[in-house]
Amino acid sequence: MTRKLFVTTALPYANAAFHIGHMMEYIQADTWVRFQRMRGHEVQFVCADDAHGAPIMIAADKAGLSPQDFVAQIAAGRARYLDGFHIGFDNWHSTDAPENHELARRIYLALRENRLIETRTIEQFFDPEKGMFLPDRFIKGECPKCGSPDQYGDNCEVCGAVYAPTDLKNPYSALSGATPVLKSSEHFFFRLSDPRCVEFLEAWTQDGRLQPEVANKVREWFTRDDAGRVALNDWDISRDAPYFGIEIPGAPGKYFYVWLDAPVGYLASLKNRLGQLGLDMDAYLAQPEVEQIHFIGKDIVTFHTLFWPAMLKFSGRKTPDRIYVHGHLTVSGAKMSKSRGTGISPLRYLELGLNAEWLRYYIAAKLNARVEDLDFNPDDFAARVNADLVGKYINIASRAAGFIGKRFGGRLSADVGVEGRIVLDALRAHAETIATLYEEREFGKALREVMLLADKVNEYVDAHKPWEIAKQAGQDAALHDVCSTCIEAFRLLTLYLKPVLPALAAQVEGFLRIAPLQWADAQRAMGAHTIGTYQHLMQRVDPKLLDALFEPPADAAPPPPALPGGEALAAEIGIADFAKVDLRIAKIVAAERVEGSVKLLRLTLDAGEGRDPEGRPRLRNVFSGIAGAFKPEDLVGRHTVLVANLAPRKMKFGVSEGMVLAASHADEKAAPGLYLLEPGAGAVPGLRVR
Ligand code: 2FM
Ligand code: ZN
Repeated sequence: MTRKLFVTTALPYANAAFHIGHMMEYIQADTWVRFQRMRGHEVQFVCADDAHGAPIMIAADKAGLSPQDFVAQIAAGRARYLDGFHIGFDNWHSTDAPENHELARRIYLALRENRLIETRTIEQFFDPEKGMFLPDRFIKGECPKCGSPDQYGDNCEVCGAVYAPTDLKNPYSALSGATPVLKSSEHFFFRLSDPRCVEFLEAWTQDGRLQPEVANKVREWFTRDDAGRVALNDWDISRDAPYFGIEIPGAPGKYFYVWLDAPVGYLASLKNRLGQLGLDMDAYLAQPEVEQIHFIGKDIVTFHTLFWPAMLKFSGRKTPDRIYVHGHLTVSGAKMSKSRGTGISPLRYLELGLNAEWLRYYIAAKLNARVEDLDFNPDDFAARVNADLVGKYINIASRAAGFIGKRFGGRLSADVGVEGRIVLDALRAHAETIATLYEEREFGKALREVMLLADKVNEYVDAHKPWEIAKQAGQDAALHDVCSTCIEAFRLLTLYLKPVLPALAAQVEGFLRIAPLQWADAQRAMGAHTIGTYQHLMQRVDPKLLDALFEPPADAAPPPPALPGGEALAAEIGIADFAKVDLRIAKIVAAERVEGSVKLLRLTLDAGEGRDPEGRPRLRNVFSGIAGAFKPEDLVGRHTVLVANLAPRKMKFGVSEGMVLAASHADEKAAPGLYLLEPGAGAVPGLRVR
């Protein structure tokens, strides 16, 4: 039966260009979609820009643009990436498009009709200089628990405490530096704690549609306290003007929180796409066989497994059939960050002339169906592409195609003989196994199967040595059979690789003069068919190009990262204030992870403080929230700057005796990067920084 699949990837925020993590998600989803199409299924594969929200409004303001123009500028840059990496979305839309405004309002009104919306007056921080309520990320201050300065409004990156922005000590606005004032305002809530929602979501998330590890994680929301209450809270879905978003019907000056209308953008993009085809979305979704599938990253699971299905269900709509969650992409460890820069830009990758399908292959080869992080390692990348794609797969065609052209006028033999048939039958017998692996998103396993088959074909070639048969008189028929077997095997391997390597497959289809390969073609043979002239299909990876990928371009300074909000200067101080802070050079003599904390490293520091009565050097114990940016072993032996007269703080994991200094962007999520301060060469522990 033909499946009808409505597939999306997460909608990227329209405040920055794509990074390599976006490309990984798109490659995963695109590969799966291409596979489904080869199976003869119908797919609507759509995405859109996630246009709304305070950070985008603030970034637009900084850029001197209207939010609409700002978002349009970002949107205009999308095609280069998508085309460049052969991501075949059927539609790219925007959450600011009319379809989304209308759908979001309709969904909201249906929820209200269902008595699932209520209003409450809440107090929030307001920036009196900017005249706006501050999102949590734009309020900073001292952690109420450990006193660390410059912590965000929702949690402390140093001690891990979670709190409300109003708990911060000496809060300030990251936009203006002003002290925020508390102001009350009416907010709209989606009553997720309503028993109808709880009952529905508990069943929906635990019925086997989610990956097991995702279902387990989500289950925590349904644990009951002694009073029988679940952990699931009502959801605040409104924001006050000024806000870039969709105005709430009947509530002037109130807007939907961006996360309410963002997933609705999936439907808006679908509606827009179907409209282009002259189809109606409601009629399309009413077909019981339509499967709705969202590919997302692990950081946005709650939105997609609680809020989004509840919104759909209680507005009388179809809920997602699958949420396929993947882990994050990391770029290999210490070596990378020091000598090769911090990250890889997908655009630079293309501009350097690196082959997009190398990356598609590499990422697919490392993907599976679980929520695991995937590491991009340049050496591994080159090794895999060169060994698998060029060494095993392309090699088969390049060894046989010349003879077919020169000796047989491009014509394949009608029947390849017993031994050839054995090889080809073995290849054909794997069609369903490989299909199942693609279906299950076990791409790594699928590609391993394909490479094992390529190995078999290469063994066959090595055993029959066409280059030797070619020299022997009267062996034309044997040569013809061996080379025809190779070309037919190459066609089958191409078919199996086509979801991952669509452009290469198209080239091969041209060379073989065949129609676009479908999965069912695995059970056919080309027979006595005339093929075209072979032209080299794929280069090996040049390690020099890979190195260049990690170097900042020589001429141009790297574009400044998009910094929603930037960071305002702290209030002015006199030199006497500064002198109160005793900064010392310290050497990191030991560093280790802290069990139970993802953020913290335990550092042992030598700050030149002499020896204790037993003659051992006096060392300091400092907990530092830098675990996300450094491996402990890379820190040992380095010198840094210590705030040496900071009052000791008792933390969950022990006492912290000071603080080490590092630089970071105001919004670490939007612009990651943490830089440990290091003195010039020759500085020794104990020297004062002044
Ligand atoms: O996390 C993000 O990048 C969001 N812009 C994803 C939104 S997905 C969907 F809900 F629109
Ligand atoms: Zn803290």
